[in-house]
Amino acid sequence: MTFRDLREYIDFMKRRGKLLEIEDEISPDLEIAELIRRACYANMPPVLLKRVKDYPGWKVIGNIFYSISAFKELFGTERLELVTEEFVKSFGRVPITFTEKFTSLPVALKLGRITPKSRGAEFKRADVGLNGVPAIKTWPKDAGRYMTFTLTFAKDPESGANRMGVYRIQVLNDKEALIHWQALKGGSHLASKYLESGEREMPIALVTGVDPITALVAASPVPPGLDKFLFAGILRGEGLEVKKLDNGVLVPSRAEVVMEGYVDLRDLRPEGPFGDHLGYYTPQQPYPTFKLESTYLREDPIFHVTSVGKPPLEDAWIGRATERLFLPFVRLIVPEVVDMYLPEYGLYTGVGIFSIKKQYPGHARKVMMGLWGSGQLSLLKLLIVVDADVNVHDINQVIYAITTTVDPKRDVMIVENGITDSLDHTVPNPPLGSKMGIDATRKLKEEIGKEWPEEVESDREVAKRVDALIQRYGSRFKVFP
Ligand SMILES: Cc1cc2nc3c(=O)[nH]c(=O)nc-3n(C[C@H](O)[C@H](O)[C@H](O)COP(=O)(O)O)c2cc1C
Repeated sequence: MTFRDLREYIDFMKRRGKLLEIEDEISPDLEIAELIRRACYANMPPVLLKRVKDYPGWKVIGNIFYSISAFKELFGTERLELVTEEFVKSFGRVPITFTEKFTSLPVALKLGRITPKSRGAEFKRADVGLNGVPAIKTWPKDAGRYMTFTLTFAKDPESGANRMGVYRIQVLNDKEALIHWQALKGGSHLASKYLESGEREMPIALVTGVDPITALVAASPVPPGLDKFLFAGILRGEGLEVKKLDNGVLVPSRAEVVMEGYVDLRDLRPEGPFGDHLGYYTPQQPYPTFKLESTYLREDPIFHVTSVGKPPLEDAWIGRATERLFLPFVRLIVPEVVDMYLPEYGLYTGVGIFSIKKQYPGHARKVMMGLWGSGQLSLLKLLIVVDADVNVHDINQVIYAITTTVDPKRDVMIVENGITDSLDHTVPNPPLGSKMGIDATRKLKEEIGKEWPEEVESDREVAKRVDALIQRYGSRFKVFP
């Protein structure tokens, strides 16, 4: 469903009786985070906090992505991959580069409907600094207050493409904050481009409170070169309505809170500690400083927050939705991939299971290397490849495949000094760490020097007769299904 803004979504959920409205006063100091984490663990619907301690006039919303059902409702389908599959099919041939293909898309596919549209803003300039917004402290030993579901908007200085990403923002004082964009992420990539062209100030906007699909896109690994606004248009089925700020950055015109300014790319300060999505505190690391110039608010603003911690919390369900929505794109890059599963307890960068149609010796390793070379999949620590008949979503089938196809010395590949999730405390020298690939496919003769043994299979006629017996006796005694 297309919602023009966060308010339309909140109204929709309220009408369906799927909004938990809390009238009691709640503090942004640990209480909000505790409450929305509990709500998420319990699969409760989004939580709207109507009275925020020390922030009169503000509302806070959390737990929007409360489970995978939240996405199925948003897109109106049980199979999220269908949303992007049609789009990818319309590519025809595999693109040489994403940039080449996507820049010609609106014309080639008459997709004018999904491109961003310029529109007057619903927000107005306000005399509010960073201390005036209800950023939250999420865990007792966090360094301070954080904006946890705030989108960073920026523009590629070369191509003009719009990027938006969700990176945690640590509030330092009324005018300054730290932006935790990790190496490999869009924000960090753009920062390098600004620095290369001799610019130390990168114009950005921090935006909180947009429609849920735009928020999802910001948190998604959209391939570089593809304008994230365009991708949001593809998923929403309708282009984003945008407003250009004085610093040239485009933001959704119906956003709740917009903080315009720039990042001083040479002003790095220690960020953290922060209780992160691994369920541990990330130690301090240097990140660049955002300097606030202007704030814009909607009337009675609604501030969108989340809290990460031990899985499965909202980021886990965002990861699951992303896994489904991006499957067709992964197949574009590594066509032999049939399905993939990034288990929520594997934290999306920890463990990935992929099934393939194996055709030749060494095929599984080729796939591993292709995946480790693709966008944010390159962060995967453990990558398991199984045959196409294994259901990757059934962990027992995967364990069975590992048990019956893997000789560890032959089928486990360790790669050293690869790029990893920089939050991973197990990594000796972040962001560089080792990776493990497990080839859990059935082996070909060339791979093991002997024939693969035959698997047991019932005699068809006998099975048919026994089926009938099972039906008769089983249903009578309710022993068999
Ligand atoms: C709640 C939440 C918090 C996140 N925090 C960070 C963060 O602090 N730093 C980071 O690099 N990525 C963070 N991410 C992941 C990025 O949003 C994600 O990798 C996204 O692809 C970034 O967009 P980009 O690929 O355009 O950079 C977070 C995601 C979510 C859902």
